[in-house]
Amino acid sequence: MNAGIKGIGRYLPERIVTNHELEQRMDTTDEWIRTRTGIEERRIADDSMNTSDLAYEAAKNAIDNAGIAPEEIDLILVATVTPDQPFPTVSCILQDRLGAKKAAAMDISAACAGFMYGMVTAKQFIESGTYKHILVVGVEKLSKITDWNDRNTAVLFGDGAGAVVMGPVSEGRGILAFELGSDGSGGKHLYQEEYIVMNGREVFKFAVRQMGESAVNVIEKAGLSKSDVDMLIPHQANIRIMEASRQRLELPEEKMSKTVNKYGNTSAASIPISIVEELEAGKIKEDDVIVMVGFGGGLTWGAIAMRWGK
Ligand code: UT7
Repeated sequence: MNAGIKGIGRYLPERIVTNHELEQRMDTTDEWIRTRTGIEERRIADDSMNTSDLAYEAAKNAIDNAGIAPEEIDLILVATVTPDQPFPTVSCILQDRLGAKKAAAMDISAACAGFMYGMVTAKQFIESGTYKHILVVGVEKLSKITDWNDRNTAVLFGDGAGAVVMGPVSEGRGILAFELGSDGSGGKHLYQEEYIVMNGREVFKFAVRQMGESAVNVIEKAGLSKSDVDMLIPHQANIRIMEASRQRLELPEEKMSKTVNKYGNTSAASIPISIVEELEAGKIKEDDVIVMVGFGGGLTWGAIAMRWGK
């Protein structure tokens, strides 16, 4: 039995904050942000919406898209580092709001790689025959933990949510291979005190190395070659990091998903949001090979090679 994606949804807050708006608030320029990161604007949730509210909207969309009832969900996994509070978890809040009466629920904390960890965890329960429908959400309200006086980090992040319903799919489709990893010795480069603290250059070096390596590894594990990849969906942190992994896979520009320009770095939400955007643009088709790869604080990383379709 193969685990794959049966439905998908996303939610982004309405308020757009452009680089020009940030120019008014801190010592930065649109030019610096665009050339160093590829970001043009990001979405920021207002005070009335917490992380669970963003997650709820994306989850509802994914469940509708999968064509199942909330009562059919067996497990809810929410990847986030910005939960409403340490407990109850965002996943438990969702369980109640969605009316997912028989679902177990837990949050996963693996920073920007959290969605990869969530999907791989779901795969284990599905392929063992334990559970049939698992809701995996990647969601962040990073604006809550952003120091708006620190130009090194404030220009990078955005709020948003993406969700998938996973379940058994037909042979040859779904997750073909995965890789997860961590290196706690690098925790000092990206962490939260009150706000996010980051050594950008160190994280950049790690990301360039690890994203490329993990992507290549899952392609090999799946028995594929680089030229089989139809779409690379890298964690949307910085266009320069993403470009490095695209070049490592020798893919043309149109085969890499790019949403960082519109949404900034939404951490655990960036990969599922990007999948929805590519699907809606008609750029992911039945039986396409997609490679997703994420990295983040911890340090953590994760990659998945998958053949699209139910
Ligand atoms: O999801 C994982 C989260 N984190 C990441 O993915 C971050 C990975 N790192 C990066 O994306 C990049 O390192 C950054 C975009 C954060 C920074 O780019 P960089 O090319 O590594 O720049 P830098 O840190 O080497 O800084 C260059 C200069 C510095 O000035 P000096 O010391 O050369 O005078 C910074 O103070 O740019 C300055 N600077 C800024 N200038 C204008 C830093 N932030 C800004 C800013 N506006 N917002």
